Amino acid sequence: MSEICKNWSTWLKKTRFSYMNETQREQTLNWLLSVRDSVLNLANLKEGQKIADFGCGSGLLGFGVLERFEDKVELIFSDKFQDCLDECKKILNKTKIKNNVKFLKTDILNIKLENDFLDRLMTRSVLVHVKEKQKAFEEFYRVLKPNGIYAAFEPIISENTRYYELLKPEEISDYQEFKNAEKEFMENPNDPLVNFCAESLNKNLNKSGFRTVNINIQTADSKYSPTKETILNWFIAPPAPDQKSMKERFLEYFEEKKVDNFILEVQNALNNKEIKISAKTAFIKAIK
Ligand SMILES: C[S@@+](CC[C@H](N)C(=O)[O-])C[C@H]1O[C@@H](n2cnc3c(N)ncnc32)[C@H](O)[C@@H]1O
Repeated sequence: MSEICKNWSTWLKKTRFSYMNETQREQTLNWLLSVRDSVLNLANLKEGQKIADFGCGSGLLGFGVLERFEDKVELIFSDKFQDCLDECKKILNKTKIKNNVKFLKTDILNIKLENDFLDRLMTRSVLVHVKEKQKAFEEFYRVLKPNGIYAAFEPIISENTRYYELLKPEEISDYQEFKNAEKEFMENPNDPLVNFCAESLNKNLNKSGFRTVNINIQTADSKYSPTKETILNWFIAPPAPDQKSMKERFLEYFEEKKVDNFILEVQNALNNKEIKISAKTAFIKAIK
């Protein structure tokens, strides 16, 4: 595991924003808040409900629920990792909310809750870290009450703009080899980050038993001019604490000298050049 990324809470607070400047960080935080509000709205939350934020991390969704309902709902912050729950506890202690909040350390592939327990279950960017999406959805279905709602947001990383699409063959030595490698690892069925698309999520949710499944795909196109430093960070910042960085992924195909040269060539080709990138995201609502 990379030294700059010791655990999930550190990654959530620091690493995931490491390649951004102040303006980009602020834009990202505003975007996160709008994603949070959209997921909360999809969940159709009401007073008195039992609600869980699974893979809560630092509690983006859960604290959004508390902002709206304070202790008038029963809220569970849940994560596989204790450091995330500790982080949420720390934040909660700074609020005036003392009742109706629980912490549950559990893997979404084997949720430590009884059947038909929750009214609402929400996740944001959690499935993208879990290889077996089908199993996770079966667990969500099991712990929701009949008519319970699962609401979520996921980035569809497999459909993001690829490096080779931003580069011209003449700018990169062995362009075709790097293109082939990138295509292969961005379509790896064993990699939780890229082993799904909107259609597969839809299929998985229906197979789990959800009676109504709605997946709203949005495409965000953005333009910006990266610096050499930003570009280096694209390669070295891990996408999650337990996941390989882009550089490490390329190292599975080529020796380090060749990968370092590739990074240098990408830096030279794209430094201060306006690039257009496209990212697809999915808002999910499924009713049991
Ligand atoms: C990208 S973070 C998202 C955190 C939070 N939901 C948010 O919106 O900021 C992914 C979270 O999923 C959690 N996670 C990863 N695999 C998990 C699993 N198998 N079961 C439960 N949580 C998991 C991680 O600990 C981390 O907190």
